[in-house]
Amino acid sequence: MPLPDVTRLASLDDLTLTRLRERLVAIGLTAARVEPIVRRIGAIHPILRRPILQHHLRAEREPFAAAARALMFSDAVPRAELDPALGELLAPLLDAGLLAEGEGGLSSGFCLTIIDTLYVLTDDLSHGGEAVMGLGPVTTALAAFSAPRRRISRALDLGCGAGTIALVVARNCDHVIGTDINARAITVSRFNARLNGITNVELREGSLFEPLKGERFDLIASQPPFIPQSDAGKSGDFMRGGSRGDELPLALLGDVQEHLAPEGRAVLAIEWGSGPGLPTPAERVKGALGSATVDVVLLSAPPISTDAHAVEYAAALHPTLGPAYEREARDRRAHCASLGLEVMIPTFCVARRVDGRRPRFDALSTQPLSRVTPTSRRIDKLLEARDKTRTMATLIPATLRLVEGVIIREEQVGTGAGSETKLTAVMPPKALVEPVELTPLLLRLITCVHAAKNVSDAVDAYLAQFGDADRPEALLAKLAHAVLAGLLEVAD
Ligand SMILES: C[S@@+](CC[C@H](N)C(=O)[O-])C[C@H]1O[C@@H](n2cnc3c(N)ncnc32)[C@H](O)[C@@H]1O
Repeated sequence: MPLPDVTRLASLDDLTLTRLRERLVAIGLTAARVEPIVRRIGAIHPILRRPILQHHLRAEREPFAAAARALMFSDAVPRAELDPALGELLAPLLDAGLLAEGEGGLSSGFCLTIIDTLYVLTDDLSHGGEAVMGLGPVTTALAAFSAPRRRISRALDLGCGAGTIALVVARNCDHVIGTDINARAITVSRFNARLNGITNVELREGSLFEPLKGERFDLIASQPPFIPQSDAGKSGDFMRGGSRGDELPLALLGDVQEHLAPEGRAVLAIEWGSGPGLPTPAERVKGALGSATVDVVLLSAPPISTDAHAVEYAAALHPTLGPAYEREARDRRAHCASLGLEVMIPTFCVARRVDGRRPRFDALSTQPLSRVTPTSRRIDKLLEARDKTRTMATLIPATLRLVEGVIIREEQVGTGAGSETKLTAVMPPKALVEPVELTPLLLRLITCVHAAKNVSDAVDAYLAQFGDADRPEALLAKLAHAVLAGLLEVAD
């Protein structure tokens, strides 16, 4: 099936879109109703789960389920079943090509997705080519990491696809610009802004920062294409990051400082093809930033093998599997092998412009994305933690507390005389960072800090209790690390 004609969507006027939005909410087509159904079958691979989703939604027999089937999950619904859900809106939606009549009833050639209370129309990625990427786990996490907690003035969603991040950020930003090299993405994003009644998002077509000359932003959010791709590969714009996949992300990083306002923040979701002898993600980020005066926190999740990576993308492009899927998976895997790529390392790179201060670079390991609850509060806390631990003068008066939910686990390793106690900090189930191994000294220090008014009192208490085997500077350095690792946080 060809990509549906996106220009026809313009025939839906603002009033009809408002009524559509209100109708979807009224019939209960909300994240609260749909997510539990998707979550219930979460262990099944997305490519395989569609018939099971259809099964569960067909069993619901409620208007929201009929609308979800037709608009979200490409399941043809008889007109008589869809009528109670969409009523008089059916005709304009059919006219605009948002719904189409086919065998078995009405369904959409697009995919409607829901993020919080926003409706985001996207394409089915199996079309390849110009198909516009919408909501996946990385986009959802990036939106949550980026959404400003305090109102900001200007934000940029570079490579906006369906405009998801731009729309999320627009709630707390005066003016958001979304850009994309793909003209179809701009049309879809424009439609999505109208669908949600959002008027402070501006959309521009163009490559990287080319349509943004001389402009600066308080926030730049981007998930650039990062998929290793042979020249022969003909997949869509949403994947084309260069041969190793990092060419486009590196170019983006190279120009990011210039487009950040003072103290402005960039949050970039990038996966890095890696293997023996190749530069690490941290080395590549540092290299691309050069002498830029930005603080960086690079959050790296556990690597994904290029076997799993090749299967994932081949399946997304060929969901009906078969020979086309097999060829694609083999070609992708072979391309990775030809470049020595054994794993893809998913990262979130947070960069903040720090004119007049010495920039800092910290790399932290996180849990797998599926286990993390991403929020921009976490990013705020991380950056705040780095500010508080930047110098002795800022660390000493700070009040530090054990992060809520951290459990210190004590384990006896080995037997007899050689046995020793291993202490591990078990982070809360959805914590960002991986469990940290503690030394008994660090544990004692953390206990003192958790109970004290500030770090200065804690170090005094520690030295009084445990003697002065450690210099205060060494203790402070250990504390600074514990803050960054997410064991301790600066009290609000
Ligand atoms: C991985 S998708 C991310 C889409 C969206 N931001 C999201 O998170 O769902 C990458 C997007 O970057 C766009 N893109 C590719 N090359 C680009 C370039 N040189 N300049 C701007 N955008 C580009 C693609 O068209 C695609 O929409």
